Amino acid sequence: MTNDAAHAAPSADPAAPSAPPLLEIRDLHKTLGGKHVLKGVNLSVERGETLVIIGGSGCGKSVLLKHVMGILEPDRGSIKVEGREIVGLRLRELNEVRHRFALIFQGGALFDSLTVAENIGFYLMEHERLPWSRIYARVLECLEKVKLGATPRERERIAAQMPADLSGGMKKRVAIARALAPSPEFLLWDEPTTGLDPPTADAINDQIIMTKTADGARRTSLVVTHDMASAMKVGDRVAFLFDGRILKEFAAAEIGAYLKLDPDAAAGFSVDERRVWAFVKGRADRVLEAGSVDTQVLRRMLAPAPAAPADAEA
Ligand SMILES: Nc1ncnc2c1ncn2[C@@H]1O[C@H](COP(=O)(O)OP(=O)(O)O)[C@@H](O)[C@H]1O
Ligand SMILES: [Mg+2]
Repeated sequence: MTNDAAHAAPSADPAAPSAPPLLEIRDLHKTLGGKHVLKGVNLSVERGETLVIIGGSGCGKSVLLKHVMGILEPDRGSIKVEGREIVGLRLRELNEVRHRFALIFQGGALFDSLTVAENIGFYLMEHERLPWSRIYARVLECLEKVKLGATPRERERIAAQMPADLSGGMKKRVAIARALAPSPEFLLWDEPTTGLDPPTADAINDQIIMTKTADGARRTSLVVTHDMASAMKVGDRVAFLFDGRILKEFAAAEIGAYLKLDPDAAAGFSVDERRVWAFVKGRADRVLEAGSVDTQVLRRMLAPAPAAPADAEA
């Protein structure tokens, strides 16, 4: 490394104070419809990473995402974005923060009465006051990014269609294109592969990975899912939401280790570890039965490990 390069990279200095996490949630509580849904969630997401939140149906995953987006206000607790508290911000200030985020809803949530182009360009029309020709160019770019339409002509044809004319997988891609249009820094995905057939689900996994670096950005993602194959493929870290709290965090690659464990080995675990194991393995087994993810990957992982070679001389 030359001296110039060393000067150009002061942030590499290990003694430099580290930046606050992109997102830091502390002791978040929320009661909804008389139910204490979030009971003290603690969670941090570092810039550039993909954190996957797993947890049973109805455990509060979507509610948690809605707090991050400022759609719901907590009863108690703190949510900081790069060290700045967003709980209690006025709408105008909150909107400044929201600009940097995009939430991709479970069903895609496209506007049914707008064309694909209007859906993708919606945010830019509302907020950027650009001429339609500029917005339309961006729409076509985004369609290309999500691999909708092989040629410019095809992309123009798709841009003119209504959501009702699209398949489930195409709708999902349009929703991703819409999220990418304003080039957000932080993407929040709510069950992105739920209800899709295996090849489409895996194509969406690839899209999630693609969005990390599209437009030369280095984006951060928070993915809510109970699809273990997806969690393993797209995630860096996993956080398990259980009974209103993050019960455990682990590296996404460890999902494989949980899958390989048999009940006898798991019996020696702590109660919390067994909960994670039961959830991960339970989901994977159900997924295998339903055949709704890359079963080859999961079968390989669930297969017993090859027997250790007989004691060779040392
Ligand atoms: N607006 C609401 N009013 C009342 N209860 C709600 C509301 N939103 C969510 N809940 C309840 O909060 C719990 C968590 O919901 P949710 O976050 O949607 O679960 P999931 O983990 O499946 O995404 C559920 O019991 C749900 O019924
Ligand atoms: Mg949900």
